Amino acid sequence: MKKITIAIDGYSSCGKSTMAKDLAREIGYVYVDSGAMYRTVTLYALDNHIIQDGHIDEERLKQEMKNIEISFQFNPERGRPDTYLNGTRVEDRIRTLEVSNHVSPIAALGFVREEMVRQQQRMGQQGGIIMDGRDIGTTVFPNAELKIFVTASAEIRAQRRFDELTAKGEQCDMQEILRNVEERDYIDTHRDISPLRQADDALVLDNSHLTIEEQKQWLIRAYEHAIHNS
Ligand code: CDP
Repeated sequence: MKKITIAIDGYSSCGKSTMAKDLAREIGYVYVDSGAMYRTVTLYALDNHIIQDGHIDEERLKQEMKNIEISFQFNPERGRPDTYLNGTRVEDRIRTLEVSNHVSPIAALGFVREEMVRQQQRMGQQGGIIMDGRDIGTTVFPNAELKIFVTASAEIRAQRRFDELTAKGEQCDMQEILRNVEERDYIDTHRDISPLRQADDALVLDNSHLTIEEQKQWLIRAYEHAIHNS
C-alpha cells in the first residue's frame, strides 16, 4: 500500500503525541515528535548555562548547534521512541516544567528552526511518517497528504498536562501549568518564523470532549480517507 506523510499540528498539551504514536503503531508508520527536538536543544542550553536567568546567549547557541546531536530509538515498553542527546537518553529530562518554561523562546530562533526543519525533512524523505508539532503541515511537509490541526481549551489541556506530570511523580501546580500552556500558545502563534497556524488544507480536530478511543476512530477514518484519495 502507498505510504503517505501525515502532519499533526496544534497547541501545547492537546494530546497530539498520544494520537500520533497510536496511529503510527496501528498502521506501521514511523512516529517523530518534533517538539522533543526543540526540547532537547533547550535542555542542552540549560545544562550548558547558555540560558541564564531567562536570557539566551544566542551567539553561543548558534556556535554550539553543531555539538547537539539528536536521535530517537524506539522503546518497545513505552510503544514510542525515546529521545537521545549525544547518545544519552534524555526522554524524561526534556519533559520537565523547567524545559517547558524555556522551550518556546528557543524554538522561535531562526537558526534553531532551520536546523531542526532540515533534520525533520530528511527523516521524512521516504514517506510512511507521522510527525507532530507546530509547523509540520505548513513548513516541514507542506505537501503532506494528510494534515490535522488539533485543538482543545487551555484549561482542559493544562489539566491533562497536570495529570501526566503528577503520574510521573513530579510536584506541580495547576496554575503554573496553565500559565505555561497559555504563554507557549502565545509565543508559538506570534513568532516571526513559522508561527503555529492551521494549514489551509488541514482537518480540524477539537478533542476537548473526546475520549482517546473516539479520537482514535476519528483519526483512522481520516487516514483511510486520505489513502483512498492519494
Ligand atoms: O508536548 P507539548 O504539546 O507541550 O509541546 P511539544 O510538542 O513538546 O513542543 C514544545 C515546544 O516546542 C512548543 O511549545 C513550541 O514552542 C516548540 N515547537 C515548535 O516550535 N515547532 C514544532 N514543530 C514543535 C515544537
